[in-house]
Amino acid sequence: MSGKKLVLLGGGGFIGSNLTRYLVENTDYELVVVDLADDKLEGIDPDSFEFLKIDVTSDEALDACRDSDVIVDLVAYANPSLYLEKPLEVFDLNFVKNLEVLDIAVQNNKKLIQFSTCEVYGKPSGDAWSEDRSDLIMGPIHMQRWIYAASKQLLERVIYAHGVENGLDYSIIRPFNFIGPRFDYLVPAGSTGGPRVFAHYLSALLSNGPMMVVDGGSQHRTFTHIDDASRAFVTIIESDESNRQIFNVGNPNNDVTILDFAQRMKRIYSELTGHQSESLIIEISGEEFYGAGYEDVDRVPPIIEKLQKLGWEPQHDLDVALRDAIAAHLKDGAQAVPALT
Ligand code: NAD
Ligand code: UGA
Repeated sequence: MSGKKLVLLGGGGFIGSNLTRYLVENTDYELVVVDLADDKLEGIDPDSFEFLKIDVTSDEALDACRDSDVIVDLVAYANPSLYLEKPLEVFDLNFVKNLEVLDIAVQNNKKLIQFSTCEVYGKPSGDAWSEDRSDLIMGPIHMQRWIYAASKQLLERVIYAHGVENGLDYSIIRPFNFIGPRFDYLVPAGSTGGPRVFAHYLSALLSNGPMMVVDGGSQHRTFTHIDDASRAFVTIIESDESNRQIFNVGNPNNDVTILDFAQRMKRIYSELTGHQSESLIIEISGEEFYGAGYEDVDRVPPIIEKLQKLGWEPQHDLDVALRDAIAAHLKDGAQAVPALT
């Protein structure tokens, strides 16, 4: 893949901006980044990639796809609060618009690397999740949380069918709760809904506000250092054996309850700042935090044998991942967001 041209759709987001920096620093790929936002790309040498501030389905973006060797699709709404606030927009962006990109890949014989989600596994089936063996189990339709996972799962199924019927070259990545610099956005203390859990807890810690654990925090997540994730991406794109395959990208050793996650963040934040945090860890119901239609789940850790066979291993434990992520935000000048009046 040396010197190949990649178009990173949604490359200005959390994963995309970290991946762009990683690829600039560690590869000689030619990069075109397409996004509606560019704030997270600040600090990366602007001469090291081309940036197009346009919609993913604009003619210019689709032309950039036609002109690339590999299309990397990261575009999606990925915050659970949005699955309940605007489910139809989630379906439109995460399935319909992504389908347009897929069609361009099929019509122009382009390799597609599609970011999907560990959320396609849904509710636990077994003790750990395997890409090609585990069932994908979702909640009832009125639990709108599942529209995200259902959209992503259907997209995976259509990609797979194009591989079988039309010879599409693709790899699908299922991320497991990546954390790192430039994560989502900060919110006022005590806010509900909004960004994903790391950004909520960092917001709380910055303002000594409450860290809210939804429904007691006994649900599990497996968190992954963003640098391990970026390295996994390069392993996948560089390997011939990754074609027409799905990969879990996660660190099974970093499986914790959300309550444990909150306690660790509080401890590590206190160590990094030198001040004992006064944030209280309090409980809140899922309905109060997200609204009606929220169903939370336990997640089980990923089986990562497929990626290990290609030579990849996660290298960062949870405390290191949290320390690096919090320290990066503090270095970038993260400030408490004033309370809404
Ligand atoms: P993100 O929200 O930070 O990034 C998505 C980017 O897409 C944003 O920068 C946004 O501006 C851009 N975008 C949205 N609509 C667009 C449009 N119409 N045209 C152009 N750009 C548009 O999310 P992320 O965490 O970086 O996730 C990237 C991908 O990985 C998503 O597909 C997400 O579902 C998937 N994923 C992420 C995680 C994780 O741990 N962060 C976990 C599972 C799946
Ligand atoms: C999210 C999104 O669905 C996707 O971006 C992605 O598939 C997945 O993360 C991922 O990163 O792999 P989820 O893990 O539920 O799913 O997202 P978070 O908002 O980070 O929530 C994690 C857990 O923390 C949930 O149980 C949630 O209820 C809880 N939470 C969240 C709190 O207890 N307190 C908060 O302040 C925020």
